[in-house]
Amino acid sequence: MLFDESYRRLFGDDVTLHEAAHTFFECFYHHFLQHPEVDELFRKTDMPNQVSMLHKSFFQLSAFYITNTPSAELERLAAIHHRLGISDAHYDRWLDALVEAVKEKDSECDLATELAWRWAMAPGLTYMKLFAHLSTIQQSE
Ligand code: HEM
Repeated sequence: MLFDESYRRLFGDDVTLHEAAHTFFECFYHHFLQHPEVDELFRKTDMPNQVSMLHKSFFQLSAFYITNTPSAELERLAAIHHRLGISDAHYDRWLDALVEAVKEKDSECDLATELAWRWAMAPGLTYMKLFAHLSTIQQSE
């Protein structure tokens, strides 16, 4: 409930991307890239393109929260990030940056809303983290 309401305040009801959503993702990257290690990983990346890609993939994470089933696209993303060597700590920073952006852009965000966001993203993030661990185990077998 709290997550859905905050989500709607940020992104509206329709599936199409609007300006406020774009501003939100720019704010997210501003926080995310504060970490020198993360900044280094994105050094050669075309950031405007990345903002719009994250925009779409972000819906995959939200969808996992609702359906409990990873989409083919989420599996593809997990594999890409595993190859990039993204660690659990990086994913934790990703979530912290996301919550910072929610706090900044959703004027009604309180502690309970923040928790609701962390809760909603948890299944997708756990899947991405676990994918890397499972791949590593399978490779060593
Ligand atoms: C669950 C959270 C995340 C989502 C949804 C996400 C989403 C994406 C997407 C959609 C792409 C483009 C993939 C493509 O080529 O089709 C991408 C690429 C990338 N991601 Fe993530 N990402 C996440 C977490 C992270 C984290 C934690 C890091 C590093 C700290 C990271 C670093 C990168 C890098 C370096 C690329 C490649 C950029 C390039 O092509 O230059 N991502 N991510």
